[in-house]
Amino acid sequence: MGMHLEWTSNLSVGVQEIDSQHRELFKRINSLLDATNEDMESEVVNDTFDFLQEYVLHHFTAEQNLMLTRKYPQSDEHMLLHNGFIRDIYRLQDKYEKDGATPELLEAIKSRISEWFLEHVTVRDKALGEFLKS
Ligand SMILES: [Fe+2]
Repeated sequence: MGMHLEWTSNLSVGVQEIDSQHRELFKRINSLLDATNEDMESEVVNDTFDFLQEYVLHHFTAEQNLMLTRKYPQSDEHMLLHNGFIRDIYRLQDKYEKDGATPELLEAIKSRISEWFLEHVTVRDKALGEFLKS
């Protein structure tokens, strides 16, 4: 389905721990896309938001630890992006709780979660991966 994030080998950042966490995140983002697209019961949708948020925090913490340990020069900038993403997910969940799975919400989940994450992996995390391998 075109809606879904699909993992391909060119998304690898070359660091096994990060790659496997990215795959898990793709799955959890896809679950959120399904739950909201299919307008599932609000309890299910909320659980799916929580399930995604929990893993996002786990994954960003792991990346941030690697950046700090290796003194990655772009770590501040990278962490700001992470924090913005976390905030966006909370905001979208709030919106969902207020208004339900509106077309605007679905569009925002697509652009601010799915596409954002794909872009982040392709640009920022690949740069981080290059640095960690060097
Ligand atoms: Fe990142």
